[in-house]
Amino acid sequence: MYKNILVTGGTGYIGSHTVVELITAGYTPIIVDNLSNSKADVVDRIEKITGVRPAFYPYDINDAESLRKVFSSHKIDSVIHFAGLKAVGESVALPLKYYRNNITGTVTLIEVMKEYQVKSLVFSSSATVYGDPEVVPITEEAKVGGCTNPYGKTKYFIEEILKDVYVSDNSFDIALLRYFNPVGAHESGLIGENPNGIPNNLMPYITQVAIGKRPHLNVFGNDYDTHDGTGVRDYIHVVDLAKGHICALKKLEKEANGVFIYNLGTGKGYSVLDMVKAFSKVLGRPLPYQIAPRRAGDIATCYADPTLAEKELGFKAVYDLEKMCADSWHFQQCLKDEE
Ligand code: NAD
Ligand code: WQD
Repeated sequence: MYKNILVTGGTGYIGSHTVVELITAGYTPIIVDNLSNSKADVVDRIEKITGVRPAFYPYDINDAESLRKVFSSHKIDSVIHFAGLKAVGESVALPLKYYRNNITGTVTLIEVMKEYQVKSLVFSSSATVYGDPEVVPITEEAKVGGCTNPYGKTKYFIEEILKDVYVSDNSFDIALLRYFNPVGAHESGLIGENPNGIPNNLMPYITQVAIGKRPHLNVFGNDYDTHDGTGVRDYIHVVDLAKGHICALKKLEKEANGVFIYNLGTGKGYSVLDMVKAFSKVLGRPLPYQIAPRRAGDIATCYADPTLAEKELGFKAVYDLEKMCADSWHFQQCLKDEE
């Protein structure tokens, strides 16, 4: 049985929710995060939610010497690897920063894991590896690699690197989890997504419009081939997503050796206007929006076939769009109260 789980990127959005679920499930998470996109007080908040304070190291995964200190101090059973940069636009402007941080960082992490004979890994991949899908819902068998930006390519390249690592050493247990669109927040309002600057993603932009920080939402295109012309995505509550990691760990615990690939989504596709409608209902008033031109690089439709994760991991997302909106909104209001 696994006990000590190293969580890289554990103070980030998905990482922090996963640390909460790990503690709830009886594991001992150990966080490594260089705080490039999160704050150290997340550790206090995790303690507030769970009553347990996880070990935290403010280290960079590119720094092998620092990683060795962590592996020497804790007998790590498995690693959940969230650490990475994720801003699509920035990755186009600064590709080398993304290749260095995400790819070299992962290679360094695996090298140190091998030194300490730790061969169990859950990796944060993304639906972005599918590029513009030929068919929806997307199964794990769909073609990968058609990514249009360096961020997406780092996810694809890392998947390939991890497959090669397994070929070279069959004692590895690796889960590649392809997330669809995570939204929502912990219902305590203590942890959630709080991006710096103007949000790129739909949900944080919507909550900032709702709180009055921005005048209206720009809906990027209403001429896609979808039910209302706006882009369709598979939004998944971050708490559901976090629980998916526990399911993946349990799979690796019992079924040793292999590279296992799963979509983590709900299987439902909602458009931008569906989201505006659901959020307006939670808000109790219409969310202001304007139709704007398409955003470069966007695709019309992307949603998961979640069957394999349900069959092999026993994972099924349970929270609906209204709960995703309600928890995102609650988190935004809690942020405002703290200001
Ligand atoms: P996030 O930015 O909130 O969390 C990532 C964390 O990693 C941050 O706390 C950051 O400080 C840390 N980090 C970055 N580089 C590091 C390094 N070199 N060393 C140590 N720590 C480092 O992002 P998130 O939304 O929680 O995403 C987590 C993972 O899931 C990322 O790998 C991301 O690419 C992937 N993912 C995210 C989404 C999404 O829409 N949020 C979708 C699919 C995949
Ligand atoms: C969702 C929909 C937009 C903002 C991105 C990354 C992807 C993944 C998740 C990590 C689209 C529309 C958005 C706005 C809008 N990350 N939109 N107005 O583009 O599906 O995926 O985040 O792996 O790699 O590309 O998510 O939230 O940006 O957009 O109309 O202000 O909302 O056009 O249809 P996306 P998103």
